[in-house]
Amino acid sequence: MSDVGKQTVGRAAAELVEDGMRLGLGTGSTVEHLLVTLAERRLDVVAVPTSEATATRCRQLGIALTTPDEVDELDLAIDGADELDRELTATKGGGGALLREKVVATMAGRFVLIATRTKLVDRLADTFPLPIEVVPFAVAPVSRELDRLGFEVVRRRGADGDPTVTDNGNAILDARCPGGLEDPAVTDVQVSVLPGVACCGLFVDLAEQALLADGDEVEVVTRPTPDDAAPLSG
Ligand code: A5P
Repeated sequence: MSDVGKQTVGRAAAELVEDGMRLGLGTGSTVEHLLVTLAERRLDVVAVPTSEATATRCRQLGIALTTPDEVDELDLAIDGADELDRELTATKGGGGALLREKVVATMAGRFVLIATRTKLVDRLADTFPLPIEVVPFAVAPVSRELDRLGFEVVRRRGADGDPTVTDNGNAILDARCPGGLEDPAVTDVQVSVLPGVACCGLFVDLAEQALLADGDEVEVVTRPTPDDAAPLSG
């Protein structure tokens, strides 16, 4: 069911792409379906990949690549999520690519998340720990600071038991917040300013839309804007 959903939403996202676009392409098993469908469409596009894994897949599929040095802006970036809420704040980095993913999302005029509906939560970081990329020198002090902020922190390791090393040569801390985050925007700032943190895996006010799959159905959710707030009465 989940795989059907990933395929459905990956394919639907490929339809957002138009000839001539400069793209940001995310990382993960949902994005894999996007890449395959995009390659099938044979459009004239260039893409900044968010990981070495995505870059490799793009080369295999014949999707032309570029870099943040070569383009000043992206027309559209599409990426998966580990969790998201109804404001389209997302937790990302389960695949370890959060830093490049955040750079690419920030470069994009339009950033769209693709996920199965199962990833929609009321509060982030309770079920799926928040990934935080940290320079190796600062792993211990950042862990202690996160502990003080109330997180349960684990350094990510691979199947071989060795600490995970990101594409940028950094470590990843997975930080769970029992009960979930009260205010993700505040947490994003609190975590991002810790010396040694290269990227906090909270994506706040970045996604314009999310495509959420439930089996073979796709719901399009648009991020609420301040104008959507109910007018004050009285
Ligand atoms: C990669 O670092 C992540 O942010 C992914 O986008 C996220 O883990 C979603 O992955 P799946 O599409 O494989 O669930």
